[in-house]
Amino acid sequence: MKKLLWFSALVLMMSCATESSEPAKDAPEETVQETQEVNIYSHRHYDVDQELFEEFEASTGIKVNVVKAKADELLVRLENEGADSPADLIMTSDAGRLVRAEQKGLLQPIESELLNARVAKNLRDPQNKWYALTVRARVFAYHPERVSADELTTYEDLANENWQGRIISRSSSNIYNQSLLASIIANDGAEAATAWAKAVRENMARDPQGNDRAQVKAVAAGEADLAIVNTYYLGKMLNSENEAERLAGESVKLFFPNQDGRGTHINVSGSGLTKHSPNKENAIKLLEFLTSKEAQQRFADANYEYPVNPEAQASELLQSWGEFKRDSLNLIELGLNNARAIEIFGAANWN
Ligand SMILES: [Fe+2]
Repeated sequence: MKKLLWFSALVLMMSCATESSEPAKDAPEETVQETQEVNIYSHRHYDVDQELFEEFEASTGIKVNVVKAKADELLVRLENEGADSPADLIMTSDAGRLVRAEQKGLLQPIESELLNARVAKNLRDPQNKWYALTVRARVFAYHPERVSADELTTYEDLANENWQGRIISRSSSNIYNQSLLASIIANDGAEAATAWAKAVRENMARDPQGNDRAQVKAVAAGEADLAIVNTYYLGKMLNSENEAERLAGESVKLFFPNQDGRGTHINVSGSGLTKHSPNKENAIKLLEFLTSKEAQQRFADANYEYPVNPEAQASELLQSWGEFKRDSLNLIELGLNNARAIEIFGAANWN
């Protein structure tokens, strides 16, 4: 009843507005000025995002507003704002975080045949609440003089004695490692994953520390023979303006594990539609724009990632690393096994 009264009042105000060229002073803003917009909460901080948003604005007239912060902070903010949140889309790296948003009830299903045609089923939420926008692989960066090609096989193999004192990795508090272990839980079972984490931790040349780039630098400096890293960090290092970083990047080679089996563990950056999105149609339009062939090419190239739209090609550098088989595990498994992965890392003393 309340809604009906409000609606009647709105109709009355609108009819007043058509009679007089002056907008009614007390009218809600929406009735006077219909600015089309879409609001994004983003964890990403790349120039290309801004460039693409500007192109979207120019071609559609829909203004793109971006709030940037750390992914977990954005989730908390979204949760606290509830139905009053202005956010339409949340953009983050790592499927684990997108699943976290879904599990907290912060997302709603998206209906778009275009998105469904462009983004493979394992790269989106089963109810289409989020879609991947780019893909990255978690691979081995090894020193070619200290590791022979026939030593390189699988993630599972890193648990073997052969690797004693030769491996390094970042801390387990990072979601990339949590998602890798979550994929091992999904593929090999929790018991095998527990034994694996323990053995790999014991094979480490040093305590887990630093980010992915720091691991590559340490391998280059001879502190270890092999590091577990995301592909795009090597792309960034090879193209860095910092010479030391470039040289470190040039001194390692990449290996895509598990090619004879399930394929290499992949992860994504992606975007989900918020539960209370005030500009739902515009949000879906933007996602459709970002998954178009042209946008995908640039979106992926800018951060040395793989496109999700198969019509777009990976950059020359990524192509030079060769085609590889991807683990086709549904990425929601990364989120579903996240808590278990954290527990296992704790038990393995992989801090
Ligand atoms: Fe990253």
